[in-house]
Amino acid sequence: MNQVKFLVFADLHHYPGVFYTDARNKLRKIMKRAEEEKVDFAVSLGDFNHSCGTFTEIFEDIKNYPVPLYHTMGNHDTDGAALKEVLKAYNMPKEYYFFDVNNFRFIVLDTNYYGTGSGQTHFQYRNYFDFPGTRETMPQEEMDFLADAIATAPGQCVLFSHASLERHALGGSGTFNQPQIRKIISNANANGRKVILSCNGHHHRDHIRILDNVVYFDVNSASFDWLNLAHDLFPKELCDDYELANHQIIWDDPLSAIVTLSDDGTVKIDGSKSNFLHGITREMTPNVVCDGAGRPCVAEIQSAHFKLL
Ligand SMILES: [Fe+2]
Repeated sequence: MNQVKFLVFADLHHYPGVFYTDARNKLRKIMKRAEEEKVDFAVSLGDFNHSCGTFTEIFEDIKNYPVPLYHTMGNHDTDGAALKEVLKAYNMPKEYYFFDVNNFRFIVLDTNYYGTGSGQTHFQYRNYFDFPGTRETMPQEEMDFLADAIATAPGQCVLFSHASLERHALGGSGTFNQPQIRKIISNANANGRKVILSCNGHHHRDHIRILDNVVYFDVNSASFDWLNLAHDLFPKELCDDYELANHQIIWDDPLSAIVTLSDDGTVKIDGSKSNFLHGITREMTPNVVCDGAGRPCVAEIQSAHFKLL
């Protein structure tokens, strides 16, 4: 029986002086877990670093980790740097790509385009904030790449993306190409189990849903939840040092998951659990508790064990 084991985490948000995420320490702990669990690789699901050209220290840290770390492009990764620069810093061959491990194919997608009348434009330098109605979409070329990557895979496939491929695009801020993607997956799976798992970040929520015999894993942030409405519950010193800390609900310890897959259809997820920094929860702030997909803010990633048909 063929197996693969990897660590997944999302939304670390290295942004010194702005977000309190303690990202370098959290990453060190995450990669220590990866090493101890003897995974084949680790993967970040995006929003790793807000400015690759400025906050370079975290890339020095990565060089010292013995476990390979793959990256997925997130919307904030190009906020402070050009797309080309981010691809280079993350050692990504392209915005979307795949790699094979132990006969499994891992397909890394890029959901960071917004639609215009004539096509799609990639996010860069926060240009997407002016296009809230067409954010999180993908060009046709990427759809073709996805169909081809699945068709030519040596075995079963796992998808990694920043935005969800399962949440509703409008209310839940998932990917607009969802119907097309689901069709590509169901066509591929019509003749046997081909795509088994899809992991995403971006939403800072912990959720697992099975649709058409595929596990969709909404991976919680490694660090925090974002609040539209600020609160004044953190100590003054924290807010003095971090410009947007009053828009955050923060976990004490980093969240990540170890995923083990077997080619008999077994999907095993070992999550993690933390506490809220200073005991401050989203419920204590003026914000609605659940997001647009009805998912609450929790400081954990659940564990689960499935056997797909
Ligand atoms: Fe994001």
